[in-house]
Amino acid sequence: MQSIVADIEQTLAEFHPEAHCEETGKVMEVGDGVARIEGLRKIRLNEMIDFGNGVIGLALNLEENSVGAVVLSGTETVREGQVVRSTGRLLEIPCGRAMLGRVVDPLGRPLDGKGPIDATEMNPVERAAPGIIGRQSVSAPLQTGILSIDAVIPIGRGQRELIIGDRSTGKTTIAVDAIINQARLNREAEVSGGTQVRPVFSIYVAIGQRQSSVAQVVRVLEEHGAMKYTVVVAATASDSAAMQYLAPFSGTAIGEWFMDHGMDALAVYDDLSKHAVAYRQMSLVLRRPSGREAYPGDIFYLHSRLLERSACMSQACGGGTLTSLPIIETQTGDVSAYIPTNVISITDGQIYLESDLFHQGIRPAMSIGISVSRVGSAAQIKAMKEVAGKVKLELAQYYEMKEFAQFGSDLDAKTIALIEHGKRITELFKQIQYNPFPVEEQVVQLWAAQQGFFNDTPVEKTREVRAKFLEFVRMRRKDLLKEIGQQKQLTPEIKKGLEEVVAEYQSLV
Ligand SMILES: Nc1ncnc2c1ncn2[C@@H]1O[C@H](COP(=O)(O)OP(=O)(O)O)[C@@H](O)[C@H]1O
Ligand SMILES: [Mg+2]
Repeated sequence: MQSIVADIEQTLAEFHPEAHCEETGKVMEVGDGVARIEGLRKIRLNEMIDFGNGVIGLALNLEENSVGAVVLSGTETVREGQVVRSTGRLLEIPCGRAMLGRVVDPLGRPLDGKGPIDATEMNPVERAAPGIIGRQSVSAPLQTGILSIDAVIPIGRGQRELIIGDRSTGKTTIAVDAIINQARLNREAEVSGGTQVRPVFSIYVAIGQRQSSVAQVVRVLEEHGAMKYTVVVAATASDSAAMQYLAPFSGTAIGEWFMDHGMDALAVYDDLSKHAVAYRQMSLVLRRPSGREAYPGDIFYLHSRLLERSACMSQACGGGTLTSLPIIETQTGDVSAYIPTNVISITDGQIYLESDLFHQGIRPAMSIGISVSRVGSAAQIKAMKEVAGKVKLELAQYYEMKEFAQFGSDLDAKTIALIEHGKRITELFKQIQYNPFPVEEQVVQLWAAQQGFFNDTPVEKTREVRAKFLEFVRMRRKDLLKEIGQQKQLTPEIKKGLEEVVAEYQSLV
């Protein structure tokens, strides 16, 4: 910490001699991680305050005669009457490629025991979101590798897609799967020396979770070779509310570094419900007035200014993107509570997860009827649009007919076909965790389903047959998968090839 302050002061002296308006003040009152300071008249909002001994505070309440500051670590060393200095600098966090593979706290200090981080650049933790002129509309897919999402709720680079559901409905798993799939794509691009797919670097921000849960996520990412492309920012339940409040902003600052350099990044905020609680706690201690559900009145603004920083920049501005997957945990499915409705209204789409589906074995437990992506098929390759275009409608009809079918048995052939098809798509959408499908394989299985390939298979065997069939395609016609990946559309030759491979497979089983 000492070194962060020293570094900042050095950069400050070099680049911003005019900004160096250092003042001294005096701590009048301290308690609950908050210090009331007098004498810092020129201080700005979010400016760092040096308490000495490497202790840093953040100016959050600017009042007429005093400043309310949260102490970010080492609160117990702060004493009444102590002299403090303003630094003239807003809070910053180390950024750059050196952060990849590391687990850090919201101030960028390593938590993984892997030694100091050799970061050469700093980014402000709070920054205004890019304006409308600098942006362009989202068009490149951010493939999660999860068939149900990539087919019907496609996410684009630069989009904000909320993952919302009760606890233990698979929210974290979806986000982790998305990160693992980016790592898989990055590795493929490295192997092929590929200019085909631009790599996506991920930032996983853990807010208010147990330390063991964070360790578990890091372990999974490591096991799947994804840590190399990922930065984990963690403020756990045992950290102060101020650190938890900072965590998503720090993660965003790290993501913005990639975006500013014309690269693509994905930020996961797990989760913003706990973030809201930490902010409420911090605000109460700062004696800010509270409003609905005792949250401070600016809680909506807090999350909107965070998520507004996700963007798809125009070519003139470097063409980088920052995609975000905020997570919200609901209580007994209540999406109309205050924080959920706020975040729903800020994001470009929502993935709703339901406990009922989860317990029925439909995993990922996404409710397809109400989940949406407002970017939609603009973020899909042509081949995917072709095979997935009808799926959402087919499933909607299937859910409706399924209800009817429970009551009567005299259904016409068309309805029966629709129900049987729906059942099989539902089976295909079940996908075990940490097993992303490349987009080519997603296209192949949906194409096969549309051609009626699975119709003769008993419903409960659908996934088994899928696995066998995909394995067969990988072995016999790898060229087709490659072609789909390269052409990004189903040309007549590819379709012919797929028909051949289906015929070959069927002649063998
Ligand atoms: N697609 C899936 N297939 C099988 N198990 C899953 C799947 N998704 C999640 N799970 C399991 O469900 C449990 C809860 O998932 P988690 O992502 O931690 O939920 P949440 O973040 O919503 O609390 C975990 O044990 C996880 O392994
Ligand atoms: Mg979770």
